[in-house]
Amino acid sequence: MIGKLNHVGVATPSIEDSWKLYREVFGCTDITEKRALPEQGVWVSFVNLPNAQIELIEPYGENSPITAFLAKNPKGGQHHVCFEVPDIYAARDDMKAKGATVLGNGEPRIGAHGVPVIFVHPKDMGGVLVELMLEPGAAHAGAH
Ligand code: CO
Repeated sequence: MIGKLNHVGVATPSIEDSWKLYREVFGCTDITEKRALPEQGVWVSFVNLPNAQIELIEPYGENSPITAFLAKNPKGGQHHVCFEVPDIYAARDDMKAKGATVLGNGEPRIGAHGVPVIFVHPKDMGGVLVELMLEPGAAHAGAH
């Protein structure tokens, strides 16, 4: 079973513009600096809420995985949800066994939080792109 909701991924054409919304409209004050993740093709900034985060993602470079999403949603929009799991490899194997499509080569890769993640195709997830992330502090990282 999935654990905590860790974050909701929100694609945006401009993280700076999104900051205005979260700061001025929602009154958020705990927002991280914009950081490049070249291997993932995104800029990222986290809006820290009391119980979870909003992960703002903006395209980085030519082949960003969110370029197509923003072409369809020019103002940005909700892109994925991320749940924590206690064992990323067990979660990956469980998703596959249940017929879901794990994106990429199926190998977990290090995500924006520095822990392994996988993404599961929305066609098998009720239309929602799902990120599963090793829960921070779990002892299983690198055990496989
Ligand atoms: Co994410």
